[in-house]
Amino acid sequence: MSKILVTGGAGFIGSNFVHYLMDNTDHEVTVLDSLTYAGNKASLVDLPSNRFTFVHGDIRDAELVDELFRKNDTVVHYAAESHNDNSLDNPRPFLETNIIGTYTLLEAARKYDTRLHHISTDEVYGDLELDDPERFSESTPYNPSSPYSSTKAGSDLLVRAWVRSFGVRATISNCSNNYGPYQHVEKFIPRQITNVIRGVRPKLYGAGENVRDWIHADDHSSAVMTIVDKGVLGETYLIGADGEKNNKDVVELILTTMGQPADAYDHVTDRPGHDLRYAIDSTKLRTELGWKPTHADFESGIAATIDWYKANEAWWAPTKDATEAFYASKGQ
Ligand SMILES: NC(=O)c1ccc[n+]([C@@H]2O[C@H](COP(=O)([O-])OP(=O)(O)OC[C@H]3O[C@@H](n4cnc5c(N)ncnc54)[C@H](O)[C@@H]3O)[C@@H](O)[C@H]2O)c1
Repeated sequence: MSKILVTGGAGFIGSNFVHYLMDNTDHEVTVLDSLTYAGNKASLVDLPSNRFTFVHGDIRDAELVDELFRKNDTVVHYAAESHNDNSLDNPRPFLETNIIGTYTLLEAARKYDTRLHHISTDEVYGDLELDDPERFSESTPYNPSSPYSSTKAGSDLLVRAWVRSFGVRATISNCSNNYGPYQHVEKFIPRQITNVIRGVRPKLYGAGENVRDWIHADDHSSAVMTIVDKGVLGETYLIGADGEKNNKDVVELILTTMGQPADAYDHVTDRPGHDLRYAIDSTKLRTELGWKPTHADFESGIAATIDWYKANEAWWAPTKDATEAFYASKGQ
């Protein structure tokens, strides 16, 4: 049993990770989260108080971070500004949290010799052509496209430098697109599901040919714990579940699973600089650490996610109108 600090644990993937730890381990968990528009304490209700503590605070607050690093054995760092569209509108919070925030944690890890696992994204690698036989691997050069992905790339490079220069005990993982419960309605899959629940036609960027490599958030969590337990310090591991799908197919699957005609959606102006395709080769994680995903069936994973959004309207309804107003102002 160990004490794990989870930054950004009130966000989508962080909260799924906290639930995963509660259900599958006996670790004590502390969440540090500043509750931006993307953080939601309602994602962390009914957790056992003898194993779970919530701290409302900012990862850039060095004094608070120091105190929490002193009290915990391991830190898993999810906190980030994470939405590409927002980064095109106002990049500064992305620099503040993703770069300065990660730097603040690295300095504490260095001071207290705390084991740190840094969560990152495959978007640091840029994109692939639709017909490219290649997938991203740990040796793919960084080539980020957006303010979001460039600040994530910057944070990864800081972690590597702190490992090399100061001997910080850290690992990094770069994961593909996640889906599952507790995801903010601004993101592609929940936005379409909640539109259909409200009787609104889903919106598809451009022709919908962009390909994402989908993984269930639970599989991301099991991969992260595998790396925390067995990963080699200083190493990077790519996390993916061979889930390539284009956006058009995903929207059509959501519509048909929800009993609508497959073509009952509208095309909207594409996002500027929209990456074409992401695809992950997770051979290193599978062969060296023995991890494998358990949610291999995307159709049943999407059906379960739809059921979750239907059953939890009180969780997402408060943010839906503001999210749609933001997209409407951009013609999307
Ligand atoms: N969503 C994906 O598909 C995906 C895929 C690969 C990697 N990632 C990475 O996983 C991590 C989590 O992504 P997500 O989708 O759960 O994001 P999210 O936006 O849903 O959650 C981010 C959380 O971080 C918190 N936060 C933001 N700034 C903070 C600060 N300065 N101090 C403390 N807390 C702060 C927010 O309140 C929120 O709870 C990110 O690092 C992201 O880059 C996401």
